[in-house]
Amino acid sequence: MPSRETWATRMGFILAAVGSAVGLGNIWRFPFQAGAEGGAAFLFVYLGFIALIGFPAILVEFVIGRRTKRNPVGALKELGGDRWKYVGGIFVVTGFVLLSYYSVVAGWFFQYFITGLFEGYTATTPEELGAAFGAASSGTSALLAHAAFMIAVTGIIVAGIRSGIEIAVKVMVPGILFILLGLAAYGAFAIPEASQAYAYYLQPDFSVIAENWQTLLPAAAGQAFFTLSLGMGVMITYASYLGEDRNLAEDAAVIVSLDTFIAVLVGFVVFPFIFQAGADPTEVGPDAIFVSLAQAFATIPGGRLLGVVFFGMVVIAALSSAISILEMLASYLIDEFKWERPKAAAAAGLAVFVLGIPVTIDLVFLDLFDGLADSVLLVLGALLVVLFVGWVIPEDGLDELTTGVENIGSLGSIWLWAVRIPIVIVLVISLYLGATGYLEFLADDFLGWLNG
Ligand code: PFF
Repeated sequence: MPSRETWATRMGFILAAVGSAVGLGNIWRFPFQAGAEGGAAFLFVYLGFIALIGFPAILVEFVIGRRTKRNPVGALKELGGDRWKYVGGIFVVTGFVLLSYYSVVAGWFFQYFITGLFEGYTATTPEELGAAFGAASSGTSALLAHAAFMIAVTGIIVAGIRSGIEIAVKVMVPGILFILLGLAAYGAFAIPEASQAYAYYLQPDFSVIAENWQTLLPAAAGQAFFTLSLGMGVMITYASYLGEDRNLAEDAAVIVSLDTFIAVLVGFVVFPFIFQAGADPTEVGPDAIFVSLAQAFATIPGGRLLGVVFFGMVVIAALSSAISILEMLASYLIDEFKWERPKAAAAAGLAVFVLGIPVTIDLVFLDLFDGLADSVLLVLGALLVVLFVGWVIPEDGLDELTTGVENIGSLGSIWLWAVRIPIVIVLVISLYLGATGYLEFLADDFLGWLNG
């Protein structure tokens, strides 16, 4: 059997993990959630969750991956026996569901990029903006964009770890950062309404936390897991390609900081545009960013070029996340069924494409898939894997965390206790709230939709 591929460089691993973390979660979800849920107050809670929960949880996946050098299903089987391999099975199911709609949404951004390139942004009234979003988000063009995106993702995974993922992320991640910094600087210097926009984005409204904590806390916790690509075995997979033993905690700190920096930076890019165009920053929902930004790019000077750069950057960010999910799925087929990489990548890519087709037909499937993956399966997966390392294999976990490190001090035991209790509590509450919310959605909206 050919030996398992590894990352060529430490930078390659870090950039791949950052590429996975930075995606639609940072751009499509984060700024609007923060804007609607108390601005700086939401940021504050979110940053707390990233540090206290996201950082230890990403290490949980890293230690499993590096210790076993296997795909998530094989890794959990090796460490925990047959029973635990089913948790890996949950990861695989989540990966298929999540990537199927993620790719459709990435396709919407791709279409806005193409529109800017060939026609420019012309819609300004709510009716025109809504019609443009409707045309992009369903029907043949949505299907074609979904197909194009999945072909690109599959192509990179066929090429493998070093010549596919690693080369791609070495170009994409610096590109994303560079473009965002440029757009943020443009906003700061060229948009007079910028200070108003920052005040809105950063104004702490702590009454929002007090009033809405039941929804705000799980939303912030869910966002922390989603943005760091946790709960799905993606970080297990990426860490399984680590050749030499390096300080995992250091790598995790760099990855988490960069992802957080970019999430916060996106707010500095998006809100000045929205304020200058006089669009509505309080809107949340899957169409919000398209409606308000397309309006901004139609109104402000140089908007067409800014729009092309912005939407193109989002497509790249989505691509660097999507490849991590398809790699997880492919690695499962390669390791467990001994499939060749091209066959595994193509089969998984095709299955994801087919599963995403309903989302291009009716947006109710976006809610159906996103609710299932994000509020239920991701949280369940994260909870089980954290319980596994914290309570079933704590010695292996600690041993792996300290491998390749000269002196980790008390970080090891702090990590283990964070993993054993506080993270579990937050995840159990989030899972309860997420699952009940999803059942309500099924009983009301989805059943209503089925009954016409
Ligand atoms: N972290 C990605 C984002 O913020 O867009 C989404 C994601 C990728 C979630 C991979 C989960 C995952 F396994």
